[in-house]
Amino acid sequence: MYTGLLHTHSSLRYVVLLLLVIVIAKSMVGLMSNKPFEKSDEKLTLWLMIATHIQLLVGLVLYFVSPAVIFGSNTMKDSVIRYWTVEHSFIMIIAIVLITLARTSTKKITQDKAKHKRVFIMSSLALILIVVAIIMSGRGILIPVRA
Ligand code: HEM
Ligand code: HEM
Repeated sequence: MYTGLLHTHSSLRYVVLLLLVIVIAKSMVGLMSNKPFEKSDEKLTLWLMIATHIQLLVGLVLYFVSPAVIFGSNTMKDSVIRYWTVEHSFIMIIAIVLITLARTSTKKITQDKAKHKRVFIMSSLALILIVVAIIMSGRGILIPVRA
């Protein structure tokens, strides 16, 4: 079960990263060229949110079965154990909240430009956090599960 979950979680990162890049690019173009916030923009934030929530669910289950997550006297002293037990989930959950807000908080906005702006800012911050967190893991941003 652990191997399957790790591969699922590891592969889903590409979906999340790709959707994030598309959402950021589209909202930036929308913002700069004053385009209306279309149905496709709305759908993209939904797909991103669904992919990210699935990643959250898989990550949560993984947290309880992964040998990298260790609670003990060394948890905070050992940087690798600390990363997987504390830092990874903490940073990723903040990014997931931002991605969720990029969609849910824009629903209340009426002006198209303001919608693009909100999506752009929230998604960009989420992307930065996710990239920083994966770099911190030392496993490489685009490198599949280590052998
Ligand atoms: C631990 C697991 C999960 C948590 C804690 C979680 C949390 C949330 C929260 C707080 C919202 C509400 C946002 C709002 O309207 O203010 C939400 C919405 C949503 N979630 Fe999740 N979720 C989880 C798993 C999933 C999974 C596995 C999926 C899909 C397969 C999913 C799909 C959605 C969708 C489609 C919405 C509504 C999006 C919209 O129309 O704006 N979530 N979730
Ligand atoms: C956007 C959200 C997330 C992304 C992009 C992400 C990405 C990743 C990546 C790239 C790995 C390394 C997999 C490999 O070795 O190839 C990983 C591992 C892991 N993630 Fe996440 N993650 C996210 C959210 C979460 C959350 C919310 C949790 C926990 C609540 C979590 C728990 C874990 C655990 C336990 C591991 C496994 C460490 C191991 O056993 O080697 N992740 N994640």
